Amino acid sequence: MSDHRNAPRIVIDLDLPGPVVSRHLYGHFAEHLGRCIYGGFWVGEDSSTPNLAGIRADVVEALRALRVPNLRWPGGCFADEYHWRDGIGPRSERPRMVNSHWGDVVEDNSFGTHEFMALCELLGADPYVNGNVGSGTVRELSEWIEYLTRADDSPMAALRRRNGRDQPWRVPFIGIGNEPWGCGGNMRAEAYADLARRYATYVRNHGENQVYRIAAGANADDYAWTEALMKALGCVSCGDTTAFEAVSLHYYTMSGTWADKGHATSFGQDDYYRTMAAATRIDELLTRHSTVMDRYDPGRRIGLVLDEWGTWWNVEDGTNPGFLYQQNTLRDALVASVHFDAFHRHADRLVMANIAQTVNVLQAMILTDPETGALVLTPTYHVFAMNTGHHDAASLAVHIVGAGTRQVAGGTLPLLSASATTRGDTALVSITNLDADAGCTTVLDLRGRGVTGHSATILTASAIQAHNTPDSPDQVRPQAFEGVRPHPRGLQLELPAHSYVTVELALEETDD
Ligand code: AHR
Repeated sequence: MSDHRNAPRIVIDLDLPGPVVSRHLYGHFAEHLGRCIYGGFWVGEDSSTPNLAGIRADVVEALRALRVPNLRWPGGCFADEYHWRDGIGPRSERPRMVNSHWGDVVEDNSFGTHEFMALCELLGADPYVNGNVGSGTVRELSEWIEYLTRADDSPMAALRRRNGRDQPWRVPFIGIGNEPWGCGGNMRAEAYADLARRYATYVRNHGENQVYRIAAGANADDYAWTEALMKALGCVSCGDTTAFEAVSLHYYTMSGTWADKGHATSFGQDDYYRTMAAATRIDELLTRHSTVMDRYDPGRRIGLVLDEWGTWWNVEDGTNPGFLYQQNTLRDALVASVHFDAFHRHADRLVMANIAQTVNVLQAMILTDPETGALVLTPTYHVFAMNTGHHDAASLAVHIVGAGTRQVAGGTLPLLSASATTRGDTALVSITNLDADAGCTTVLDLRGRGVTGHSATILTASAIQAHNTPDSPDQVRPQAFEGVRPHPRGLQLELPAHSYVTVELALEETDD
């Protein structure tokens, strides 16, 4: 047996649970963009594809396994062009519009408010409705929340009833515009902050429905934007939070630049490592935005919502450049796993996150074939599936000692990433070996509680470029992981190169 006394250690205090990892950190995003809604979620009632009142049954089934906690809709950039009244009433009578951001295609509004709420009900997901600030009105947004959530015979509740829905829906999350610094109106931070206060004033709580209002936040490292929003809140610690309950943040991962983002499947090791350096940067962004927020809100009452994240590659050859359709490899899966590690570490401030996007757009869970309709689960889907045990569990502090590093683009990339949560007499540990070539013997140094059993799952493939297609849907799929041995400090793992492993631990009961 080889000597692994110098193996990297992942040290976990199993008896010191920290902040709860909200299930909402595993949220999703569905925009009227390319084939996300049309062809992805929605095929219409007359389609030969099996559907539930127009919604693809196989997509619903696959997503139910992920326990999707919330779904953001209708955008993104589309949200600031969307007028909700165009998407209610008989479908044949709904006005059409041009989706000028995404492909300049005609949108027939056949998927609107009722269809979205039906989708959320099928998924068991909380709706996160993003309002139109860029080209809408305060009245429009105010009436939308009334239409959605009011029970009595108010004008909007009556209109909803005429459109076939008696009971109000529960809508816990409302976005006040999207990317106002860009596609949402090209505003300056202070101007938007004032608008956000104004719009949020008229997003009312109707009856039992309590709305969590999310102001549209910064792009990546624009800390000045976060500062302007926090200033606009007034004295948070005095309880003066009449404006909004959270600010958002958007951050996309790519190996290149916005002009040439890199290819989804044809990439080399340098691209891979640059991607991983970009992905792990999310930890710094969350830390620094939180630090800005702490200055105005030391009690952490205002939430940070990362409502767009994921990889963004050049579109697949031969597809509409405005549709943002891209393949998804093992590399994307590891981008997701290191994001989740960061999310777990920031559970005390980060209250929600939404991957962009769920089907057929950017870092999707599901790809559907436009010709045959065949459905493929991506490597990223499997990371979400392997992580459902983290939803609403308590985070555990994790310390990594002695892991290898690599110099990437002037910085140091740690090659091991890990996080852990606990619930009752169980714990779930996530470990990513980012090394493209080398396996890694690693010790799980488990302290504070006895471990009575374990089981482990691995997601890896022969190459970092491996991906799933309709002809070969299982190139990257989770499998039982046999590389776990007892170790005097806990467990020893033989992690293959470029792999993601989850270890579920059974713990001795405690009296606490
Ligand atoms: O997710 C795609 C687009 O990226 C969204 O519409 C926009 O908010 C962001 O720029």
